[in-house]
Amino acid sequence: MSLRVLLTEDQIQTRIKELGAQIAADYPTGPLHLVCILKGAYVFLADLARAIQRDTFVEFMGISSYGKGKTSSGEVKVTKDLDHSVEGANVLIDEDIVDSGVTLSYLMQVLQQRKPRSVKIAALLDKPERRLRPVEVSYVGFRIPDEFVVGYGLDYGEKYRNLRDVCVLEDGPQPG
Ligand code: IMP
Ligand code: MG
Repeated sequence: MSLRVLLTEDQIQTRIKELGAQIAADYPTGPLHLVCILKGAYVFLADLARAIQRDTFVEFMGISSYGKGKTSSGEVKVTKDLDHSVEGANVLIDEDIVDSGVTLSYLMQVLQQRKPRSVKIAALLDKPERRLRPVEVSYVGFRIPDEFVVGYGLDYGEKYRNLRDVCVLEDGPQPG
């Protein structure tokens, strides 16, 4: 397997600064809770939180819908819940990538039951061609084609999360 750079560190950082400025402008007042979806969004959250020039709370939630390979198990489960209530708060879910939409449509339902003031989604990457469930993503870093990507938090079998770029994971050279 080999890696091909799809989005460079510079492209990612530039885009996150834009998203941060937009988010700060969209939430002028009131508590803003950033909910990082573990593990894939941990790098995105670290950069996005620092790009939002206002007070924020940072929370972590563990959700898993993917097995060890490249295809979804179709099952969603909460592996770590929030530590604090989000009742009355503006919640911004931070996700690495929206693929089928199964994870986020489930999570939206879970969080909406907790009576927040609002819930929106920020995702670094969006693969719209793969959508099975509709989800409204308010802040999208980059729309990408239907290819399996790693790096900047995203993994393949827990590897590659620490790459600075987002790369396409390609199969080895094909014969002929
Ligand atoms: P969904 O429920 O199908 O939208 O899946 C979302 C989750 O699947 C993401 O949070 C990722 O953890 C994982 N995922 C989807 N596409 C990729 C990819 O291209 N690379 C790595 N992980 C992915
Ligand atoms: Mg994830």
